[in-house]
Amino acid sequence: MKILSGELKTLFEAAVHAAFPELGMDDLMKAVTVEEPRDSSHGDYASGLAMRLTKVLGKSPAAIAEAVMAVFPKDYRVEKLEFAAPGFINVTLSSAFLQETVKTLESGFSIERGIKTGADHTRPVIVEYSSTNAAKHMGVHHIITTILGDAIANLFEFMGHEVIRINHLGDWGTHFGKIIYAIEQWGDKAEVEAHPNDEFTRLYVKFHEEAEKNPALEDEARKLFKALETGDPERLALWKWVVHESLMDLEKIFKRLGVEFDYITGESFYLKMADEVLADGIAKGVFVEGEGGALIAPIEGAELPALVRKADGTTLYLTRDLATVRYRTETWHPQLILYVVDHAQSLHFQQNFAVAKLLGYSEDTGLEHISFGRMNFAGGAMSSRKGNVIRLNDMLNEAAKRAGELAASKSVDFPREELYAMAETLGVASVKYAVLSQDRNKDILFDWDKIISLEGNSAPYLLYSYARAATILHKAEKMDLGGLPQFTDPAEIALAQKLVKFPEAFERAVTDRKPHVISTALYELCQEFNRFYGNAPVLKAETPEKLRTRLGLVQSFLFEVKVALAILGIPALERM
Ligand code: ARG
Repeated sequence: MKILSGELKTLFEAAVHAAFPELGMDDLMKAVTVEEPRDSSHGDYASGLAMRLTKVLGKSPAAIAEAVMAVFPKDYRVEKLEFAAPGFINVTLSSAFLQETVKTLESGFSIERGIKTGADHTRPVIVEYSSTNAAKHMGVHHIITTILGDAIANLFEFMGHEVIRINHLGDWGTHFGKIIYAIEQWGDKAEVEAHPNDEFTRLYVKFHEEAEKNPALEDEARKLFKALETGDPERLALWKWVVHESLMDLEKIFKRLGVEFDYITGESFYLKMADEVLADGIAKGVFVEGEGGALIAPIEGAELPALVRKADGTTLYLTRDLATVRYRTETWHPQLILYVVDHAQSLHFQQNFAVAKLLGYSEDTGLEHISFGRMNFAGGAMSSRKGNVIRLNDMLNEAAKRAGELAASKSVDFPREELYAMAETLGVASVKYAVLSQDRNKDILFDWDKIISLEGNSAPYLLYSYARAATILHKAEKMDLGGLPQFTDPAEIALAQKLVKFPEAFERAVTDRKPHVISTALYELCQEFNRFYGNAPVLKAETPEKLRTRLGLVQSFLFEVKVALAILGIPALERM
């Protein structure tokens, strides 16, 4: 599958070069872009190049556009070019091209193979996500990194990259001093062993309550963390067990969400390497002595230096992250490492990336913090009492319950087992889609009534549109998709155009690292399909040609939706 806007761009570049050979390459490349106009009466694609070149060429946009259109290479995909004030060249695609593209889409082959672009495919892309802290239940807010990261990893894979998925589990750090203190001090052995994860959470909360009354506990926790770092065997054994139990708990949630990692490597994995990084930094003069024997890295332009070793000799979150960059670049030589972590950690990643650069660990690896906003609940639903985090699992249960009610009201004559399975699939899909349909740079609004609804931009709406199309195909006896589809009705043409342009969303989504771009396009595609469904009968089409054309559109629609849903990590339902 190829991205048409990119190909049109190449044609425009050739035309501009032919019309104005005196124009420098830089100016040319900067000026030529191809966009999809919001209003389809402005053509299928448009370029604002004539406007952008006015100054450099000293000519009016109209004159530039005329000259470019006159030498635009002949291409069967382009039906016509038109100048539109103040300075656009609108492109209308040919019906031959629509026919041909829908014909290839019908087989699903082109789209299932993904999109190939000119990007570097020789070196892997690492996507790090979820990365919650062990010994705590996953709370609702952990859904964003887990779901967003998974979708971004899927997206890069679809674009032809080798992707390495890593969960950087928070299994080391001062909070382990606190947990171990709490278990030793207040834990009931039988209780802790019977319900380890519930007890870890309870004891951790208790630690904070007690420490508020008695700040000396913080010191006790620090001492215990120091004992861990210096290899106290008894404490290490306890720590190991806590991490193991946490992982068992996490795996259940990952399974329910359909999320898998290539590696779950906790921070503890980098501990030894952290010492090497400290020595390396000292040798390279990047780390210097700070107050009270601490070790710091001054960063040019930054207000504060980065702390890499505490005065008591223990490592920090940042130290372990520096070791992580070094390990990953040495092991995989990735072109990119994406850290899907909430925006509260922006400063941490600025420091991490700046110091990694000073140490020479990221020479030709792009390090990016893929940040996101908070989760807000409409009408206070699912809001929590202080200190009492709502568990992700409870939220998914609630989603499945609500989705079950929706399914039961809609799919009345379905067998019980199918309804149960549907409730779980729909519930999880709805929660995922709630995250993936919103711009990650803004806070994410979570509203049950919108999320689990058959109307609007929701998972049930998309899945219902898909199931509707799938049902048509199942009813169509034997499909004969010989010959080319012939688009004549406006409803057919509109859907064909949407289908042809849909893959553009994948490229925009990958460039911005924003899966919601796909969701928006998917929603629009489903709306177009439902209009088509209402206006153009498929199985009862007037002629065999119309039947053939419309079945082809339905089939192409199914393939595109299925691929887009797969990237979002949502399985399609064949009937609803
Ligand atoms: N465990 C951290 C937390 O829960 C997030 C880790 C993010 N990844 C990283 N490489 N620092 O806050």
